[in-house]
Amino acid sequence: MPVEIRLDGKVALITGGGRGIGKAIARSFAEAGAHCAIASRKAEALEEAARELAGLPGRILPVPCHVGRPEELEKLADSVQRQLGPVDILINNAATNIQLGPILEGTDAQFAKMMEINVLGPLRLSRLVAPAMVQRRSGSIINIASISGLRPQHHGSFYSMTKAALLMLTRSLAEELGPCGVRVNAIAPGLVQTDFSSYLWQNQVIRDRYLATQMLSQLAAPAQIAPAALFLASDQASFITGHILVVDGGATAH
Ligand SMILES: NC(=O)c1ccc[n+]([C@@H]2O[C@H](COP(=O)([O-])OP(=O)(O)OC[C@H]3O[C@@H](n4cnc5c(N)ncnc54)[C@H](OP(=O)(O)O)[C@@H]3O)[C@@H](O)[C@H]2O)c1
Repeated sequence: MPVEIRLDGKVALITGGGRGIGKAIARSFAEAGAHCAIASRKAEALEEAARELAGLPGRILPVPCHVGRPEELEKLADSVQRQLGPVDILINNAATNIQLGPILEGTDAQFAKMMEINVLGPLRLSRLVAPAMVQRRSGSIINIASISGLRPQHHGSFYSMTKAALLMLTRSLAEELGPCGVRVNAIAPGLVQTDFSSYLWQNQVIRDRYLATQMLSQLAAPAQIAPAALFLASDQASFITGHILVVDGGATAH
């Protein structure tokens, strides 16, 4: 008998929810009945995604926010609480990769900006929503990391370093919040066909080299990452915390 995963009436906050993996997660959560706030910098893109996802059982609330700006994160948390209620599920998904090249050529400013968005953003947002989860002794935080946080990404070292930090944030927070009934997990996708990684998968040489490392010879679509988030967010994963769920077609299993 198939187990249907439902999130009826739950409130989810998904950063970077306007496109790519974040939008696929928002779609699967709203299909499962969760009300989803989707947050990113561009209001227009969010409105368009909200229109596309309208009509599903869960409501979609677009909220513009730059995750690298603490005051905008505060406004985001307030606005979601006021309009949808307390957050049950936080998906820290927005990220940036502005340093492509040898590690010794990366600048302090690039490193600081990437840490601010990829690591401090998730930490700050967790600080804003986790206390209410602790009070209710219920909640799920899911950080979208990357297999680049598990092994170095060639000429993407700062990105790898921020994702490795995000994985340790996940485990550290899981350890502290577990006794309070809040679960914290991470998903580590391999290469997924989105705007973010188009410089990799649109390049035939890189794409073929990457595919050769995978056990499944296809590139992932965002919709193939979303079910991992749906599962981790649900009651079916009630005994899973501090976990890194790798979704990479076997790329790191060798
Ligand atoms: N694609 C891959 O191959 C891959 C592999 C492993 C892990 N990941 C991870 O998956 C996550 C989602 O990436 P994706 O591939 O879905 O990328 P994407 O399609 O480019 O989407 C990124 C989303 O993040 C938002 N965003 C970017 N900077 C932001 C900021 N400063 N503040 C708020 N929102 C911001 C973007 O919207 P705005 O432009 O409107 O802000 C967009 O909605 C990231 O954490 C990425 O590291 C991706």
